Amino acid sequence: MIDLNKLYLADCLELMKDIDDNSIDLILSDIPYGISYDKWDVIHNNKNVALLGRSKAQLKAGNIFKARGKPLNGWSEDDKKIPLEYYIWCCSWAKDWLRVLKPGASSFVFAGRRMAHRCISAFEDCGFIFKDMLAWNKNKAAHRAQRISCVFGRREDEANCEKWDGWKVGNLRPIFEPILWFMKPYKIGGTLTDNLLDNNVGAWNENVFKKYGQMPNNLISIAGNKNDTGLHPTQKPLSLMKLLIELTTLPNQIVLDPFAGSGTTLVGAKELGRKYIGIEKKDEYYNVASNRINRIEHTLFFNCEST
Ligand SMILES: C[S@@+](CC[C@H](N)C(=O)[O-])C[C@H]1O[C@@H](n2cnc3c(N)ncnc32)[C@H](O)[C@@H]1O
Repeated sequence: MIDLNKLYLADCLELMKDIDDNSIDLILSDIPYGISYDKWDVIHNNKNVALLGRSKAQLKAGNIFKARGKPLNGWSEDDKKIPLEYYIWCCSWAKDWLRVLKPGASSFVFAGRRMAHRCISAFEDCGFIFKDMLAWNKNKAAHRAQRISCVFGRREDEANCEKWDGWKVGNLRPIFEPILWFMKPYKIGGTLTDNLLDNNVGAWNENVFKKYGQMPNNLISIAGNKNDTGLHPTQKPLSLMKLLIELTTLPNQIVLDPFAGSGTTLVGAKELGRKYIGIEKKDEYYNVASNRINRIEHTLFFNCEST
């Protein structure tokens, strides 16, 4: 059995096997999106150099994208396999998530817009109920779509420059991220109310929305503040993680984050009086997360001592 209130430096695909069946009240995790955002996010075997390289524009933009997530031109057979490889990877651990959760317990998964459908299929095929997709409105997002009239302008093609005025190539501003909400099925023939009495999970708390200044619907608008950046390239706002923790768990229940990064989920759980288990495989982020968690422990201790 794994210790509670501990962050492990490990590969979660291995360590999850040591967690007891039906022991966890919530899994909240921001998983690798499989879009080649960083080395830890390359979940495929495609060795295409165009795919993992960086274009001139990306080099100029600095470290926003460390590797190209899409090939330069068209899609090779290897490129087309990337979504399927991501699905297979999700299946390789989702079955352990199902095993360790209590019946009726929730899992919130941050998965990117491009691959979320593969993650949903993997979870369903491993036995989860796909309950809902929440939209996290980030309020701001970097936008790099190219203005096509500028390209014609550089070619001194005035006619096309005018014809294509206002047109862009690339994506719309990515202002929302999906949060997938899954539930572990509960006893056949039982009701959710029976399950709540047996396992203390399966319902959500409407009052939490008011506490975080939100309407009780599936659009959550929380912008990060200056404390929510600089520790990890995909760091999530602490108050967003706290809202999701409070939405489906009671104090002292156990929250697990197998892809912990800088530990935002664990910090939220600790501050809310929940127990936590975290797993992170990169030393760098394990150290960042450990320091964050220790700082809370010291703050709580200091506050108790001075009262
Ligand atoms: C999307 S980031 C999480 C960021 C986090 N939400 C935060 O606020 O800092 C995913 C993390 O999972 C880690 N990771 C990837 N594969 C892993 C594995 N097999 N076991 C444990 N951690 C892994 C990566 O190193 C990365 O830090």
